[in-house]
Amino acid sequence: MNIPEHLIEKYNVPVPRYTSYPPANFFSIDYTGKDYREAVVLSNEDEPQNISIYLHIPFCAQLCHYCGCNTHITRNEQIKAEYLEALKSEILMLKPLLNGNRRVSQVHWGGGTPNSLRIDQIEDIMELIYKHFQFIDQPEIAIECNPAHLDHGYTERLIAAGFNRISLGIQDFSEKVLNGVNREIPAIPAADFVRQIQASGKAKVNLDFIYGLPHQTISSFSETMERAIQLQPDRLVTFSYAHVPNIKKSQKILEKAGLVPPAEKLRMFENTYELMKSAGYVPIGLDHFAKADDELAVALKNRSLHRNFQGYCTRETTGQVYAFGTTGISQLENGYAQNAKTVSRYIELINKGEFTTEKGYAVTAGQKIIRHVINEMMCNQYISWPAAAEKMNISEEQLKQVISYDESVLEAFKSDNLLNFDRDQVIVTELGRFFIRNIAASFDAGLNKTGKTFSKAL
Ligand SMILES: C[S@@+](CC[C@H](N)C(=O)[O-])C[C@H]1O[C@@H](n2cnc3c(N)ncnc32)[C@H](O)[C@@H]1O
Ligand code: SF4
Repeated sequence: MNIPEHLIEKYNVPVPRYTSYPPANFFSIDYTGKDYREAVVLSNEDEPQNISIYLHIPFCAQLCHYCGCNTHITRNEQIKAEYLEALKSEILMLKPLLNGNRRVSQVHWGGGTPNSLRIDQIEDIMELIYKHFQFIDQPEIAIECNPAHLDHGYTERLIAAGFNRISLGIQDFSEKVLNGVNREIPAIPAADFVRQIQASGKAKVNLDFIYGLPHQTISSFSETMERAIQLQPDRLVTFSYAHVPNIKKSQKILEKAGLVPPAEKLRMFENTYELMKSAGYVPIGLDHFAKADDELAVALKNRSLHRNFQGYCTRETTGQVYAFGTTGISQLENGYAQNAKTVSRYIELINKGEFTTEKGYAVTAGQKIIRHVINEMMCNQYISWPAAAEKMNISEEQLKQVISYDESVLEAFKSDNLLNFDRDQVIVTELGRFFIRNIAASFDAGLNKTGKTFSKAL
C-alpha cells in the first residue's frame, strides 16, 4: 500500500489519538477519589456488566531510552514488596463496591515490567483475584513481559497461573538497535518462548516492536519483520516510536544518535503492512496484526471489535475497566479516573485507606454518543446509523445532531477515496484506514471548541 504524498500533507494535522473519548488531556484534577468511589458504585448499573481488571507494575530494572511508559526504575525488593501490599489493599478496597454477580472477563498486567516481579508475587496477586471475583467462561488473562527477564520455568508458572496471552516486548531483533537505546539483550531467543507458549496449547503470544529508533533502516526493520513472521506469533504490534522529549527526558539521548526521518518511518510502516498482509495476518487498527482465525480478526470481520486502554477486545471480553496501581486509568461507562503517579504517593494514600485518583473525567450524555461513533470508526472502520441510534436509544436524527453530521465533510473524504457512504452507513476504504483519526475527528462535534492541542495525525 503506497499512501499518496498529497494526502499525507493534507491530513497531517493535529487530531486526538482517540485511545479514549474524551481524550486523556481532558482529564481534570477536580475529579477526586470521592468521585471515583461514586462512579464505581454507579458503574454497577451500566453496560457492559463485565469487569476488566488492569494491574500496573511500574518497575523496570533498566531504563530503555525510548520508553514512553510510566516506569519506576529500581531493583529494590523492599519497595516492590510494599507496592504489592498496597496493590492488594486497593483490590480489597474496591471489591465491596462492585455488585457480586458481575464477572471478570479480562485481567491485564501492564507496566513497566510485570515480570520484574518474582513469579510467586504474581501468583499471590492472581490467587487474591481468583478468590474474590467470579469469572466468565473464557476470560482473557494477559501479561506484558520483557524477555530479558524471562526464563522457561517462569513462563511455565505464568501459564499454570492462568495467563493465556503473553506479550513479549521484542522491539527489534538487532543488538545494535537495542544497545543504541539502552535495552537489555535477552539471553534466551524469543523463538524459544514463542514455541514454549504455543506448545502449551493454553496460551497465545503477542510480539511488540517499535519502528523509528536510531540505527534502524528500512531494510533492517523489514528483516526484523520477516524474522518475526517466521515465529508465527498469534498477534504482532508495531508501534510507531512516539518522541516526546519534553515529557520523557531520556528520549533526548536518542536525538544524538539520530532519529529516523518521517518519510523513512512511513516506508517502514508501509513495508510492515505489506509483509504482514502477505503472510496472512489481518491488520487491526493501524498497528496491530492478528492471524486470520484470531478472535480479533473474526470480530473485525463481524464489525464487533471493541477496545480499551489495554488494546483491542471482542464483545465477549469487553468490560468496564477497574485499574489498580500507579497511573492506572479506570475506564467506566460514566467516566475515567487515573491513579497517583508516583509509587510513594500511591503507597501513602492506599495505606490511609483512600483511593489515589489524581485526575479524571465524568462523561456527559452527549459525549457517550460521540464516543460510541468514534469507537466504531476507530475499531471497525464502519458505522451503521440505524444500529448506532438503536444502541444509544435515540432517534437517528438526534444522533446526527449530536455529532454535527455533515454530508459535505463525508463527500470530501469520499473524493479522496477514504470512504464510501450512503444514507444509512459509512464504510472506510483500505486507504482510509491510514487517516482514521481524521475521519473520527470529523464526528467529534466539540473538538474545535476545546482549545486543546494534539499531536499530528500521521
Ligand atoms: C510496558 S511496555 C512492555 C513491557 C516491557 N516493559 C518491555 O519493554 O518489554 C509496552 C510497549 O510499549 C511500547 N513503547 C514503549 N515506549 C514507546 C514509545 N516511546 N513509542 C512507541 N511505543 C513505545 C513498547 O513496544 C513496549 O513493548
Ligand atoms: S520499554 Fe519496557 S523495559 Fe524498557 S523502560 Fe519501558 S517499560 Fe521498562
